[in-house]
Amino acid sequence: MTLNQLQLKNRSLQFFDQGSGAPIVFVHGFPLDHTMWKHQFQTFAKTHRVIAPDLPGFGGSEPLETASMEAYADSLAEFLDALGVDQPVAFCGLSMGGYIGWQFWKRHPGKLKTLIACDTRAANDSEQVARARGVAAASVLNTGSIPVADAMVEKLFWESADSTAKELVYSVISATSPQSIADGQLAMSKRMDATDWLKAIQIPVLFIVGEHDGITPPDEMKANSELVSGSIFHVIKNAGHMAPLENPDDFNAVLVEFMETV
Ligand code: MLT
Repeated sequence: MTLNQLQLKNRSLQFFDQGSGAPIVFVHGFPLDHTMWKHQFQTFAKTHRVIAPDLPGFGGSEPLETASMEAYADSLAEFLDALGVDQPVAFCGLSMGGYIGWQFWKRHPGKLKTLIACDTRAANDSEQVARARGVAAASVLNTGSIPVADAMVEKLFWESADSTAKELVYSVISATSPQSIADGQLAMSKRMDATDWLKAIQIPVLFIVGEHDGITPPDEMKANSELVSGSIFHVIKNAGHMAPLENPDDFNAVLVEFMETV
């Protein structure tokens, strides 16, 4: 897999970039990196320019001074400018990548052709969840990343998920800096509620979720999709929160069909 590094104003950013044609940007979830999209690269690079950045602080990218969904979205816009991508992109974000997607829609509408919201939600955290994230953020700075990897692998996958997928995610999380994990948790805990924005979205949107996703359950995503006029909603069988990694064949088939229509 060829990886590239780009120097932005205040930090360098690592990304995967392959293929040519209309750009599709794959934005990973928390606390992961571009490798979670490995099963999408080959399929979509045949027809599109596939760009998969590591968000600031994750994978091989340097962190932001202050993380927030807005700042992650702005850093992606800066990255696309630096890369010379001058046409609107298909933005495919999973979970935290989806939270960033709502901000990208709000802040950089001219850069967006279509949105693919995977295993994510528009609502922000309840007070209880936000408080728990604060506790988790303090804890990872003491314990390091391995206990986070242990706990998250349990939650992210469907019980019958393939062990290679779990091992990949485990190794990525355990190699992520505790500071970036803490920053990401706090950034998510402070994110805005995007539910009211959904009615105003006028670009094509695909909602796609694993049938066993316990973090962003199908019912909630379906309710979100009903607020976006003309959007498409799909449930991926035999998958939890990591649908593109757990059932790539079905995930890719749904995404290929959607991309053919936009
Ligand atoms: C993710 O997959 O990005 C996280 O599970 C999102 C979250 O913690 O809300």
